[in-house]
Amino acid sequence: MYVCLCVGVTDGHIREAIYEGCCSYREVRAATNVGTQCGKCACLAKQVVRETLTKLQATQASLPFPAEFTTA
Ligand code: FES
Repeated sequence: MYVCLCVGVTDGHIREAIYEGCCSYREVRAATNVGTQCGKCACLAKQVVRETLTKLQATQASLPFPAEFTTA
C-alpha cells in the first residue's frame, strides 16, 4: 500500500528500512524520504513505523535467549 504518494513510498519500504536498522520515524524519513514533500502522509507513516517496531520488539521478547552476537 502506498503511504506517501509524493515520493512513492509504500508500507513495505518503511518496514524494509526498519529491518535494515532504522529505529525511529526520523531515521525512516531520512532513509526513504517519506513525508519530505507535502507532509500529509506523516501521520500514517508514523503509524506504520510504530506498528512495525512494536511487532519487532514482541518477536525479540519471545526469544528464549538474547539475540546478540559475540565474537569468540
Ligand atoms: S504524500 Fe508524503 S510527502 Fe506528500
